[in-house]
Amino acid sequence: MAFINSVRAVLLFCFIFSSLQSLSVLCFEFQVGGPKGWVVPPSNDSKIYNDWASKNRFQLGDTIRFKYSKDSVMEVSQEDYKKCNSSRPNFFSNTGNTVFKLDHYGPFYFISGVSGHCERGQHLIIKVKTPGDQSQSDGGKSSASSLVGASKLVIVSLFVLSFVASVVV
Ligand SMILES: *[C@@H]1O[C@H](CO)[C@@H](O)[C@H](O)[C@H]1NC(C)=O
Ligand SMILES: *[C@@H]1O[C@H](CO)[C@@H](O)[C@H](O)[C@H]1NC(C)=O
Repeated sequence: MAFINSVRAVLLFCFIFSSLQSLSVLCFEFQVGGPKGWVVPPSNDSKIYNDWASKNRFQLGDTIRFKYSKDSVMEVSQEDYKKCNSSRPNFFSNTGNTVFKLDHYGPFYFISGVSGHCERGQHLIIKVKTPGDQSQSDGGKSSASSLVGASKLVIVSLFVLSFVASVVV
């Protein structure tokens, strides 16, 4: 019995450890626009946010942080994004430090709610890829998540082993 109990303790430890690891590895926070934050882009670089977004790979559960002053951020429909129409956002914040969770697959459309800013390029589309869609390159996160996958496999095998052991003993 002591043997089984210690196996259980080890398993519990592994389980907690791997959960913590997957939380930190699989849920990532991105700061929109990098260190400059969420500002009206320079006139010669109006695609800055979508260029930034295309360099990153967003996954379900990731969060994005907008940092700004005297500005705001809105999540809007595709239609309103195209027209820079800020009259009916799904989400609005003007706290200066907004954390938004990417809680579904597909595109999210963000604009500045300040008059004229969206028109000058302060807008952003973020796409959360569905799990089956591997068309985009994996970036740096793939090796880390496959490591977590491997450790989960080990843990599952340990569970099976301990189950077998408890039946046999
Ligand atoms: C925009 O202009 C600034 C200053 O004039 C320059 O440093 C920067 O490289 C330009 N950016 C692009 C994308 O042309
Ligand atoms: C923005 O959307 C509202 C609500 O549909 C509409 O009344 C308004 O005319 C739109 N404004 C622009 C500039 O398209």
